[in-house]
Amino acid sequence: MKLLIATTNQGKVREIGKLISDLPITILHLGDPSIPSMPESPEDGKTFEENAIQKAKHYGTLSKIPTVAEDAGLEIPSLNNWPGVNSARVADTDAKRVQLALQKLHGKSGEDRKGRFVSVVAFFDPENNRTEIFRGTVEGEILEEPRGHNGFGYDPIFYYPALGKTFAELTSEGKNAVSHRGKSFSAFAFTFARAKAKATAD
Ligand code: IMP
Repeated sequence: MKLLIATTNQGKVREIGKLISDLPITILHLGDPSIPSMPESPEDGKTFEENAIQKAKHYGTLSKIPTVAEDAGLEIPSLNNWPGVNSARVADTDAKRVQLALQKLHGKSGEDRKGRFVSVVAFFDPENNRTEIFRGTVEGEILEEPRGHNGFGYDPIFYYPALGKTFAELTSEGKNAVSHRGKSFSAFAFTFARAKAKATAD
């Protein structure tokens, strides 16, 4: 069975590939030579859920392949959950987005520097038109300056107190073990594997 991961973000492709590598499926992603090129999905929802569903349905319907899409981002409660669903769009590079977050938090401390990553995965099966949703979150603190070179996006300023490191100081396995994406995709992989086992037994 084939599964299309609807992303072109190489950081995400690497993390997701490891998270679902145990499933008995062929994993494809956008940009794969075996996938026809498709127009880009709109992504104009107000919530992570709306965006993930929009993307999974768009690429699943066009490719006719069961598709998972993820929408993820950073929420900073003291900034009314900014940047939220706009996490990828508030500036045009990862480095500028990180600097913008640091500027907005300049002079703030303690509770005001709390942040959380959110990941919402939507699975769409074009055969029966069904969509399922899986959500994962992780709580941390936004540092005053970046630390570490792994990962992507806001990882260098996202400090995870239980491990005493930023997400950019963890290996991808270490990050996956505790991250928002680790949780949402593990929940998806578990449900998917259980449904397959049941279908085989029936
Ligand atoms: P998406 O590709 O529309 O889901 O946008 C996600 C954006 O949120 C990314 O471009 C990053 O800026 C940020 N983001 C999501 N997940 C992570 C993560 O695991 N680490 C760091 N930044 C993340």
